[in-house]
Amino acid sequence: MTNINTLTLTRPDDWHLHLRDGAALKAVLPDSARQFARAMIMPNLRPPVTSTALAVGYRQRILAALPAGIHFEPLMTLYLTDNTRAEEIKQAVASGVVHGVKLYPAGATTNSDSGVTDLAHCKKALAEMEKLGLPLLVHAEVTDVQVDIFDRERVFIERHMIPLLKDYPALKVVFEHITTKEAADFVLRSPANVAATITAHHLLMNRNAMFVGGVQPHHYCLPILKREEHRQALLKAATSGNAKFFLGTDSAPHAKHTKEAACGCAGMYTAHSAIELYAEAFDGVNALDKLEGFASFYGADFYGLARNTECIELRRQSWQIPASLPFDGDSLIPLRAGQTVAWKLQ
Ligand code: NCD
Ligand code: ZN
Repeated sequence: MTNINTLTLTRPDDWHLHLRDGAALKAVLPDSARQFARAMIMPNLRPPVTSTALAVGYRQRILAALPAGIHFEPLMTLYLTDNTRAEEIKQAVASGVVHGVKLYPAGATTNSDSGVTDLAHCKKALAEMEKLGLPLLVHAEVTDVQVDIFDRERVFIERHMIPLLKDYPALKVVFEHITTKEAADFVLRSPANVAATITAHHLLMNRNAMFVGGVQPHHYCLPILKREEHRQALLKAATSGNAKFFLGTDSAPHAKHTKEAACGCAGMYTAHSAIELYAEAFDGVNALDKLEGFASFYGADFYGLARNTECIELRRQSWQIPASLPFDGDSLIPLRAGQTVAWKLQ
């Protein structure tokens, strides 16, 4: 399967993706659809995707925005609120198009103000999800302003993740975009119903990347980049061959002027060269043979979906990322803008 310069992979899936809506959706969707067969679509629109009816409508808009002849399956998620009813969970499962429910602690990140204020409000919905096997996708950061931003994921484990799994031991949980050694260790020692996604940017950069030569707003995302020891732990988890860890880009496009601002938005746009960035990260630790499981198999297995059958080919070929991309009358700065990536999708 692998030699030094080419890599053939079963077509991968992206288990955590922000596609936005309207003209922004149309601008970014081809980047993901070129590489991935499917993606788990985050529901943090304005207003958020809180019901199956809204998810079905959003899914149709995504399909309508696809370039002609391109096949791509959007897997929809619901945005959990304090008011999500058990009936809504039943409908979500019955729809066949909703594959997860996203927990944003209220105020944790972009468009999370309608998120959950206290999981105690979600008992019926969570019990129904546990019963029906609908996974909970967790943005695992506490919102307590007393807690240092670099510690918010670690503290979430103690305060919320452990109690959650104690109350709902059979609930399928995806610890989204893990960024710390503590999160990787937690997932490793949890039972098989607990898994995690890992982004390319957290595999490739540590927190220094936010400050090299001055403030780098395009390297600001949530959860925030962490110390090198955490990046090393994530690389170890991603390349371990353990099926609990799989690909989720958390590609989160924001217009250039909203990133390069006095109060800049959180999110990196990585979809433009996502699989290539992951290949570079795996190659960097001589683990290209572990990329296919991580990118193409383990996520589908966890969600109980069939693995893809077509293939993609990557070549070791340095290429330059554009300095900027068109974005809804504005511009979008992709990760590595104006710089090179070492692998290229053919
Ligand atoms: C995401 C966004 O912009 O929607 N931002 C981010 O930094 N990752 C929201 C999120 O996943 O936290
Ligand atoms: Zn996200």
